[in-house]
Amino acid sequence: MNKNFYITTPIYYPSAKPHMGHAYSSIIADFFARIKKIQGYNVFFLTGTDEHGQKIQRAAEKANKDPLKFCDEISKTFKDLSSTLNLSNNDFIRTTENRHFKSVENLWNILEKKKEIYLSKYSGWYSVSDEAFYTEDEIENINGKKISKSSGSTVEWVEEESFFFKLSKWQEPLLKFYSDNPKFILPETRKNEVVSFVKSGLKDLSVSRKSFSWGIKVPSNKDHVIYVWLDALTNYLSALNYPNENDEKFKEFWPADLHLIGKDILRFHAVYWPAFLLAADIKPPKRVYGHGWILSGDEKMSKSKGNILDPIEIINNYGLDPLRYYLLKEVSFGNDGNISKDKLESCINSDLANNYGNLCQRVITFCEKNIGLEIPKFDTFNEDDLSILNNFDNNLKKLDQEVNNQNINFYVEFVVDQLFKANKYFNDQAPWGKKDEPDRLKTIVYVSLELIRKISILLYPIIPNTSLKVLNIFSINENEIKFDSISNNEYLRPKKKILKLDILFKKIENND
Ligand code: ME8
Ligand code: MG
Repeated sequence: MNKNFYITTPIYYPSAKPHMGHAYSSIIADFFARIKKIQGYNVFFLTGTDEHGQKIQRAAEKANKDPLKFCDEISKTFKDLSSTLNLSNNDFIRTTENRHFKSVENLWNILEKKKEIYLSKYSGWYSVSDEAFYTEDEIENINGKKISKSSGSTVEWVEEESFFFKLSKWQEPLLKFYSDNPKFILPETRKNEVVSFVKSGLKDLSVSRKSFSWGIKVPSNKDHVIYVWLDALTNYLSALNYPNENDEKFKEFWPADLHLIGKDILRFHAVYWPAFLLAADIKPPKRVYGHGWILSGDEKMSKSKGNILDPIEIINNYGLDPLRYYLLKEVSFGNDGNISKDKLESCINSDLANNYGNLCQRVITFCEKNIGLEIPKFDTFNEDDLSILNNFDNNLKKLDQEVNNQNINFYVEFVVDQLFKANKYFNDQAPWGKKDEPDRLKTIVYVSLELIRKISILLYPIIPNTSLKVLNIFSINENEIKFDSISNNEYLRPKKKILKLDILFKKIENND
């Protein structure tokens, strides 16, 4: 069985500092990277910045900076955000790096050699903000301005010599590819949009520009720079040292298991990207998941609209794990969602402090007072014990299946439900009333500690820092966290020391 897993985020434009939308994609990707890691996969998790093209060139001009210097500065804020978000990424790629140039030039040369690219002239609409070409049907006139119907960004007329990729030729092969790989595009609704777009007819795609210079030059014609999307998409290969196909990384990790992206850039990933790859005789990725948007009011949060929320500010006020928890639980995955401070505070108070924090504190404090800070010896498990303990093992397969379909909602609901059940178990069993049945008392505490351990493992992909704090009291360190060990009901060794646990989450006092 293939135990490698390659997951990517989009590479973000460093035209302005990151906002909550970028943080969202990165955190979701980190969730999948971490769960695969504890399931024993060899994970490669890639993120980075997309630094060429007219959008960046104009932003640099506006800031009166040399484009590379401009990118250096802003790319660093994205890289810093990856650490602030506690991402477990293995690499951070920048398209201005040498390794990336080599891959893009190589891919271009293959496409040219295979006669998939020809020189002609483009005349039509272009949005610099989206770095996308639009047809007449895809734009509308609002207050005398031409804008893209899908993104609302301004389009401008472009007329210049351009290389074209024979996208039209790939219409049928793409449709066959979608039907042979029914889960290539998720969620299902997005897949249907893509399929009907492709069925409506594909035109050849302009893949070079002449009127500006900030990009990778066409190897055979230096007057042209390669279209920034062909350049950017190739990052997923360059990070694996493509074109060196004998490279271990490439062999292990290509084709990518999951390109996690926002629905705004689905067409590039689900149509153009597999078409380029099929044309170059490279395997397409296994899956593209287009998630929903973080909204501001009822609009997409975006730097061009200026309606952004700074993730650093939220983290400084509330902490990282609460933000991660909120995004994974309260934004129904696949759909758009809002950030509400009230809901975030209620997540912290009810779920994190009351439900998880309290369970840990109560059980451990009770254990310390009545048994000491060590794992108790247990007697036989009764029906109540087995029913709650086995509930984990009985659901692991299902959890795994749902995670493989990117069903985060199912996963989070399961964990929250287990938290309620564990608290209820401790209340119902009431070990404080069992002082004259010391064996039973110890068994209840043992089972409760096991529940804390199992739940903390499940929480690791969601709130890794807090989960580790709790697992550390059992001397389980990060490399020892194993998803499969959740099935074991007797993982904790009696007599082993338990370390002290600090308060996990402070409740937010509401003064108004
Ligand atoms: O499109 N809600 O970069 P970009 C959720 N460079 N996710 C959001 C979001 C929001 N409001 N705003 C942004 C590009 N995102 C290209 C990608 S990939 C080869 C090249 C996230 O800086 C989401 O993942 O505009 C979206 O697809 C991505 O950031 C776009 O980032
Ligand atoms: Mg964008």
